[in-house]
Amino acid sequence: MPAGPSPASRGEFSSRLGFVFAATGSAVGLGNIWGFPTNAASNGGAAFLLVYLVLAFCLAYPALMAELIIGRHSRSNIVSALGSLPATSGGRRFGAAAGTVAVITSSAILGFYALVAGWVLSHLGAESARLAGWQTSASWLSQGSIARDLGCALVFSLLTVAVVSGGVKAGIERWSERIMPALVILLMVLIGYVLLQPGASAGLRLYLVPDLSRALHPQLILSALGQAFFSLSLGVGTMLIYGSYLPRTVNLPTTGALVTLVDVAIAFLAGLLILPAMFVAQQQGVEIHRDGLLIAGPDLIFQVLPALFAAMGSAGSLLGLAFFALLTMAALTSSISMLEVPTAWLAESTPLSRRGAAWLAGTVIFILTAAIVLWFDPLFGWVVRAATEVSEPLMGIVLCLFAGWAIHRDTLLAELRRGDWMVENTWFWKIWPPYVRFVCPLLIAAVFVNSLR
Ligand code: TRP
Repeated sequence: MPAGPSPASRGEFSSRLGFVFAATGSAVGLGNIWGFPTNAASNGGAAFLLVYLVLAFCLAYPALMAELIIGRHSRSNIVSALGSLPATSGGRRFGAAAGTVAVITSSAILGFYALVAGWVLSHLGAESARLAGWQTSASWLSQGSIARDLGCALVFSLLTVAVVSGGVKAGIERWSERIMPALVILLMVLIGYVLLQPGASAGLRLYLVPDLSRALHPQLILSALGQAFFSLSLGVGTMLIYGSYLPRTVNLPTTGALVTLVDVAIAFLAGLLILPAMFVAQQQGVEIHRDGLLIAGPDLIFQVLPALFAAMGSAGSLLGLAFFALLTMAALTSSISMLEVPTAWLAESTPLSRRGAAWLAGTVIFILTAAIVLWFDPLFGWVVRAATEVSEPLMGIVLCLFAGWAIHRDTLLAELRRGDWMVENTWFWKIWPPYVRFVCPLLIAAVFVNSLR
């Protein structure tokens, strides 16, 4: 058993609930709120939801458990964790190298995420300025420029560093606990308001009426799996480091299942907001299709929906304010989980304090963000693809293999028994070990190979 620093010196969540807020905060992000709904809309509506649910629980959940178990067992960052588990020195070198790739990947994801979150923040500012009657500021904030992108990404990055440098309890847990309930309430209020507007039912129908002919298409299954992995923040050590701050007495299988359930539920709810909102926008004369397909991705969030808010007068400004506040909150609880990966690694393997580590990692990552702003066309798509389509699935495989093969079965059982002394009799213990050894790695490999085509 690796001798790490005591929990008190490296930080620990105060309770199971504190962890659930932080982990669902990480999982629920920009990906859920616009990725999932538009994916569902263009892939058979409720049929996609069904496939997504099955995959989230049958594949993403076991992989999440792999990260949580490695994290809580080794009580350290991903580089030291993977670098100490294998029995052979070659295995440990491979583990440390893979851990380093994960740290770099997490930083790269934050590199582009901070830019996108900066766009969200700029629209939040624009809607506020519009309400206050400051038209010039509103139009500067809502139109893309290098100065605006750099400025807003900087503000967002500073917020992220400020939270992470506060530590596990006073930073990450405290802010996730404040933000997540507010996010759920805001989401409900927005759904209620949008569903009452003319046109909403067409969006609802598109989302909720299953088109089963599309649901079993192999392409769709693979894209739903990719969505599930990204949405649960898997493959870069985020869930591993959060797991390392879990008190020993927490029951891991049920806690992980709860996080998966909340993530899926919020993705589902986001669909009840975004798709009806698009059809409400259409009623107001906003174009929502391009080349015969529903507009998705950044254009949906930064063009279609703002056009809807503008068409609705001052009620629209309030709606816009609430909507971009929702996205900002979702983005912040995710970005802190990405920054925690390099921060924990620096704080545990160099003499830097946590505060120093957070600022150093934040500064290096902001330089990457600035480079992406300045050389957007060549860099943005490349960084997104390299991090999310290559590095994440490959690291997902590595993490499953480590949990399945590098931790001895007795050690695993002992780790799980701490939170549930009857775990040996549960279906989880009967199914999960072979699953994470064989099924998960093979299926992630299938997604990966598919993404190369
Ligand atoms: N899960 C978040 C979302 O849906 C994004 C996210 C946070 C993430 N941490 C991550 C994605 C780590 C991949 C890896 O938006």
